[in-house]
Amino acid sequence: MTKVLVVHGSRHGGTRGIAERIGAVLRTEGLEAVVAPADGRVDVSDADAFVVGSGVYMGNWLKEPLDFLDRNQAALGARPLWLFSSGPLPGSTASKGGQDPLADALGPLEGPGSGGRRKIVELSAATHPRDHRVFPGAFDPADPPRAMSERLVRMLPVSKGLLPPGDFRNWDDIEAWARGIAATLGAPVAMA
Ligand SMILES: Cc1cc2nc3c(=O)[nH]c(=O)nc-3n(C[C@H](O)[C@H](O)[C@H](O)COP(=O)(O)O)c2cc1C
Repeated sequence: MTKVLVVHGSRHGGTRGIAERIGAVLRTEGLEAVVAPADGRVDVSDADAFVVGSGVYMGNWLKEPLDFLDRNQAALGARPLWLFSSGPLPGSTASKGGQDPLADALGPLEGPGSGGRRKIVELSAATHPRDHRVFPGAFDPADPPRAMSERLVRMLPVSKGLLPPGDFRNWDDIEAWARGIAATLGAPVAMA
C-alpha cells in the first residue's frame, strides 16, 4: 500500500489539525498515512510520498518543518511531495487581498520581508513539490504565546488588526486538496 508521510510544524495546533485531516482523507481514499510533527525522529526511509506543512509566523515557516525539508532534501526530491502553508487570517491588515496566496502568507519574493519566502523558494527548487497550497489558519488570543517574538507582536497596538481571532480553516478545501493528492498517487477506490 502506498505510504504517505504527512509532516507538520504547528505552534498552536491549527496546522496539526489540517495535517490530521489530510491524513484521515488519505486513509479514507485507501492510502496508508502517517501524520507526525516535524522533529528529528521522523523517519522518511519507507515513505512513498510526502505532505509537509507549517504554520506561518511573521512571514516564515516554523524552524522544525524548515529543518525537516532541508535535512531530507534528497529523499523528498526523489518522491512525490506536496507543501502547504497554514497562515493567513482573513481580514488581517497584513493581507494583500488574496491575489497571490503565497505572497499573502510568506511575503514578497524580493526586498524587505522576503527572507521567509526565499527560504521556501530555495527548498522548493531542491525538492520539486507538486503543489504548495496556502490554507487560511486559526488564531485564538486566549491561547498564550509560545515564543518571545509572538509575545512581542501580540503586544503591539496594531496586532488587533493584524491578528483577527477565529478559526478560518476551510475543511472542504483541505479535504478536496487531500483527495487530489490521493488521486495523483493512484489510490485504489475506497470500499463503501
Ligand atoms: C504572532 C503571529 C504572527 C503571524 N504571522 C503570520 C504571517 O506572517 N503570515 C500568515 O499567513 N499568517 C500569520 N499568522 C497566522 C498563523 O499562521 C495562523 O494563526 C496559523 O493557523 C498558526 O498555525 P499553528 O496553530 O499551527 O501554529 C500569525 C499568527 C500570529 C499569532
